[in-house]
Amino acid sequence: MPDNVPTVPGLPMTRGRCPFDPAPELGALRADHPVARMEFPDGHVGWLVTGYPQVRRLLADPRMSSRADALRSPIPLPMASDRTEPAPGMFTAMDPPEHTRYRRAVAGWFSARRTRTLEPRLRELADSHLDAMASGRGGGPVDLVTGFAEPMAASVICELLGVPLSERPAFARAIAALFAVHSSAEEAIAGWHAVTGLLHRLVEAKRAEPANDLIAALVAEGRLSDEEIVTVGAVLLTAGYDTSANMIALGTFALLEHPEQAAALAADTSLAERAVEELLRYLTVVHAGGIRAAAEDLELEGHRMAAGDAVSLSFAAANRDPALCARPDELDVTREPVPHLAFGHGIHQCAGQQLARLELRIAFEALFGRFPGLRLGVPAAEVRTRPDMVIYGVHELPVTW
Ligand code: HEM
Repeated sequence: MPDNVPTVPGLPMTRGRCPFDPAPELGALRADHPVARMEFPDGHVGWLVTGYPQVRRLLADPRMSSRADALRSPIPLPMASDRTEPAPGMFTAMDPPEHTRYRRAVAGWFSARRTRTLEPRLRELADSHLDAMASGRGGGPVDLVTGFAEPMAASVICELLGVPLSERPAFARAIAALFAVHSSAEEAIAGWHAVTGLLHRLVEAKRAEPANDLIAALVAEGRLSDEEIVTVGAVLLTAGYDTSANMIALGTFALLEHPEQAAALAADTSLAERAVEELLRYLTVVHAGGIRAAAEDLELEGHRMAAGDAVSLSFAAANRDPALCARPDELDVTREPVPHLAFGHGIHQCAGQQLARLELRIAFEALFGRFPGLRLGVPAAEVRTRPDMVIYGVHELPVTW
């Protein structure tokens, strides 16, 4: 029986009037066709899944593959759809058992127990970046993205891996080139080479002088080759930087635009963890979602997916599904945490989620604790958002205090 569902011409990325809401077409699709067909940029007709139960089920389904040679990018990214075998260490684009081996190699560094020990240092980092941002600036305006969100995210991930801060600006430029939807293939490849070049030098340095960081530990253990360590490091850097930086900046923008929520949070600091969880759900910065391919023929709610079909899983649409929570389009920092998909689900669920949660809580506590009168420095409509980037957020966020 042919599927009686519409075929969408591409992944809807353009936002409507509210900068925090996903593309309006996604909500309409979710209501009528939570599993729809979609034309991918390379012409392949695969699937777009927007309903919470359906996205969650597919993320946990072992018949869904993440192998690079099976995937097609849902957006026209220069490097994501060359459909070649995953490079050794590129575990985001692997299935078990290869995927499991790499996840195990880094898991200890992201455990809840180890992450808790980082709290004092993260607080120090947040305070020092805020000192630098405010120094000599009176009451602003300053750009919170370059003044706080990016340096905070960069220093957290760089310290974890053992990347010297002197390499940070080059690294940030490389990431921007790698992730911009409109950067050319050459720019994206140059960005990737810049990141891996930096990591090769790091592996050499750790071999010469052992240290207490993730890259040094992988070098000392000797279970992965240098090439694997470089790629694992690049995966962690790229996965952990842009996501966290954009959550800090976009989360701040959302709180400033919902002053009653910011006030509730200021009045009751025990809400901090809930607020982070709710901001993650409400904002879902990984708005291009998850990409999978059916590894075999399968059926989902009467829809037949054929082996090889590409599947785009919208975390952003799923996180606004009334099947997940009441009033899904409202930001409510007092909300009882719900099992949202902002970090994905299943075996590829975010490896760094405990670190990300801690980093966000500390960033918001430090920022709003220090500047209780924080305000937008421009009208909200003038804040430039990032609908065109793999990770959603804001390009700049001018603030005053
Ligand atoms: C607020 C910040 C973050 C958000 C919203 C986020 C979100 C996500 C999501 C949605 C996925 C799953 C993608 C999929 O299934 O296709 C993912 C995977 C991943 N994240 Fe995060 N992430 C964040 C921060 C971090 C940090 C700080 C790290 C640490 C370095 C990190 C490391 C990873 C890795 C390694 C994966 C791939 C896991 C795998 O394929 O097994 N992330 N993240």
